[in-house]
Amino acid sequence: MKNHIAIYPGSFDPITNGHMDIIRRGLEIFDRVIIAVARNSEKNSLFSVQERLALINRLIDNNPQLEVDTFDGLLVNYVVSRDASVILRGLRAVSDFEYEFQLAQMNRSISQQVETLFMMTSTQNAYLSSSIVKEVASLGGDIEKFVPSPVAEELRKKFA
Ligand SMILES: Nc1ncnc2c1ncn2[C@@H]1O[C@H](COP(=O)(O)OP(=O)(O)O)[C@@H](O)[C@H]1O
Ligand SMILES: [Mg+2]
Repeated sequence: MKNHIAIYPGSFDPITNGHMDIIRRGLEIFDRVIIAVARNSEKNSLFSVQERLALINRLIDNNPQLEVDTFDGLLVNYVVSRDASVILRGLRAVSDFEYEFQLAQMNRSISQQVETLFMMTSTQNAYLSSSIVKEVASLGGDIEKFVPSPVAEELRKKFA
């Protein structure tokens, strides 16, 4: 099979149920999904790249089909370096479209071998973002429904 590995890149600051849903559904299509945390997302992030990696590692729990990694520089170069040819991205509202469209066009113009595949959010995650989860957590709100429990625990520690 040609597209057996998908790269799922992002900030994952922190990983939410929305991300987890894309990963789970990605595995229905691809043999392996590599979750790739962008190192350039360290600025203004709540969790360091190391903390995000550790959290995601706990969640993927030795599933041989999943891997978490980090990348620097151009995403398409990273994709090719991992012998992959597909970038997996999630789409929520129309507001995601403009940026994702630009990114996909730019990536294609850099490398024609790499395709971007979009998956629509599940309805229950349509308004879920790492930013909104951080905001609610910072105000002491209940975030248990929106993130896996180890993430909720780490968020509570950050804002304790
Ligand atoms: N609730 C959600 N449902 C579906 N996709 C999502 C959701 N939240 C984030 N995503 C997708 O996950 C990917 C990574 O998102 P994010 O961690 O915000 O990193 P980035 O900094 O690249 O936007 C993006 O494709 C984003 O659209
Ligand atoms: Mg985002």
